[in-house]
Amino acid sequence: MPKGLYIHIPFCDHICTYCDFPKLLTKGQRHEAYIESLIRELQHYEKEVGFDEVQTIYIGGGTPTALSIEQLSPLFDYLAQVIHLDQLVEFSLEANPENLTEEKVRYLISQHVSRFSLGVQTFDETLLKTIGRKHCPQDVHRAVSLLQSYGITNINLDLIYSIPTQTLEQVRRDVEEAISLGVEHISAYSLIVEEHTPLYLAYMKDQLTLTDNELEAQMYQLVMDMLEKNGYHQYEISNFSKAAPSIHNQWYWRNETYFGIGLGAHGYIDGIRYQNTRSINTYIDVLTNGKLPVIESHALTMEERLEEEMFLGLRLSEGVDLAVISDKYGQNVEVLYQVAINQLIEKGYLMREDHRISLTRQGLLMANDVFEQFLLSI
Ligand SMILES: C[S@@+](CC[C@H](N)C(=O)[O-])C[C@H]1O[C@@H](n2cnc3c(N)ncnc32)[C@H](O)[C@@H]1O
Ligand code: SF4
Repeated sequence: MPKGLYIHIPFCDHICTYCDFPKLLTKGQRHEAYIESLIRELQHYEKEVGFDEVQTIYIGGGTPTALSIEQLSPLFDYLAQVIHLDQLVEFSLEANPENLTEEKVRYLISQHVSRFSLGVQTFDETLLKTIGRKHCPQDVHRAVSLLQSYGITNINLDLIYSIPTQTLEQVRRDVEEAISLGVEHISAYSLIVEEHTPLYLAYMKDQLTLTDNELEAQMYQLVMDMLEKNGYHQYEISNFSKAAPSIHNQWYWRNETYFGIGLGAHGYIDGIRYQNTRSINTYIDVLTNGKLPVIESHALTMEERLEEEMFLGLRLSEGVDLAVISDKYGQNVEVLYQVAINQLIEKGYLMREDHRISLTRQGLLMANDVFEQFLLSI
């Protein structure tokens, strides 16, 4: 039974130029009907699978804090009825710095939310405009102080580097400022210019130049060096923590099963990966008619399970234990991947200790190329 429960709130007060997540402008949406539908979807899984083993909840978005307490409360009331929220090992919620009010923080803490993830991206006002964010650096300082004043120490800041025109010096200042806030956890993602986003369209019209690969690699190395030097252990390709790596997110990389609830959410239950519709009207209508909003589901083949074990697990700095995977699936992955592993070790992308393999520093920079070598089905 799944240990993780992800719930998606797709509303945002503005749309960022780079974002390809399932999201909609908050204004004029069917918020109440959406929350009712979320509860219907949860009720289905509660009855058919059960929440007895859920240890972590992650409410993400979109922007969960774009909704008011009144709008969110039916969801929290339902969760409190079916899960012992005070016994969860982690209850995370994503928040945007500009709409995390004191009233919301008080309410969320009363509902046992124990970890807050703030979308900072950069502290540079010009770059914030380039990516279409509406907060200013002071909002981040205010939001962190607010959380800390309520005793919340498990705070994550999301940063993005490799933004068009961003320099190495600007990345250095962003990381420095994030560290100065004394938070527990920092995530740093290289900007992905997703098709169909405003940023992509600007790129197609030659209105902006993307960061070249060499500079991007330098930025990544700078981020890793600065964070490690300041006591943030890199436990995953883009994730760093002092002492509390995200338990929920580690379910994904450890290939554990999880519920994915809400618009565009994906889940993994009983060897089946599924994906929900990204249309809010379909989502609400289908659930109102007593059906599930799943548009795609796929029972993984043995080959796909092994591939996923490898490239999800290799994202973690601890890597994967080949003996454990072999036991888990009754397959000899040492033999299956012998050639690929030896070649990657020779190139300096992988290191090995007994049965455990993990990415080297060089491998971190070439991660996608490494993962490709573990595909069995091509
Ligand atoms: C989808 S957002 C949801 C949370 C919240 N609305 C926010 O913006 O912070 C979660 C995180 O994904 C990351 N992200 C989203 N789109 C990205 C992209 N195209 N490239 C890199 N990181 C991205 C950002 O760091 C963001 O904080
Ligand atoms: S990055 Fe966050 S705030 Fe921006 S559009 Fe995407 S989900 Fe909304």
